Amino acid sequence: MTCHLLIPAAGSGKRMGADRNKLLLPLIEKPILLWTLEAAIASEAIAWIGVIGQPHDYPEFQKIFHRLNTTKPIHLIQGGTTRQASVFNGLKSLPSNGDRVLIHDGARCLATPQLFDRCDKALQTMQGFIAAVPVKDTIKIVDGQTIVDTPNRDHLWAAQTPQGFQADLLKNAHLKAVELGWEVTDDAALFEKVGLPVQIVMGEETNLKITTPQDLAIAEFILKQRN
Ligand code: C5P
Repeated sequence: MTCHLLIPAAGSGKRMGADRNKLLLPLIEKPILLWTLEAAIASEAIAWIGVIGQPHDYPEFQKIFHRLNTTKPIHLIQGGTTRQASVFNGLKSLPSNGDRVLIHDGARCLATPQLFDRCDKALQTMQGFIAAVPVKDTIKIVDGQTIVDTPNRDHLWAAQTPQGFQADLLKNAHLKAVELGWEVTDDAALFEKVGLPVQIVMGEETNLKITTPQDLAIAEFILKQRN
């Protein structure tokens, strides 16, 4: 076991139309976050888990941790107002031996333990990587209502998590982002902005991010198929 995992879980349920953190919503009788944690715990590569949350969710998170059958250390870390701020808090809370970090959105509850293991292996040789899958649709760049470009699909990949980094390099990129006011939606974008290489690890088609009620229905279908 070699890897430290941060799970950003400090968002809300706005796009889900829920009045609370969507990760607490039930998916086949378990909160979404519990599915995510179970996969992470089943990965042999992960030695330490930091769950980043808002303090008002801590009691519910603690209940979820108690349902896990594990000896792996799980820490609660206070989240920020954006995903970026939440991850930065997580990076500052890594223990001194946390030199390689995986970051995985709590909302991607279908990622398999095998994906975590593959990501850990990648991080043994890479400075930074993201799990991603080739894009199947043709993607259009649109300005207003008019298409301005159709990028070559061969070069398009859909970004997922886990994303993995040498922790000190990512921490420095986050510091620079605070200094220069950069706002991004994933950690790879910060690595790119400071000129560091980010590689691709094959993700999973089923590794969707639960964002809308439709996603929840699709996730339920996929999990039932697995069983
Ligand atoms: O909202 P969205 O699903 O894109 O967020 C991605 C992940 O980032 C979620 O797991 C969410 O809980 C987390 N997040 C966070 N802190 C925020 C906003 C989102 O940890 N302030």
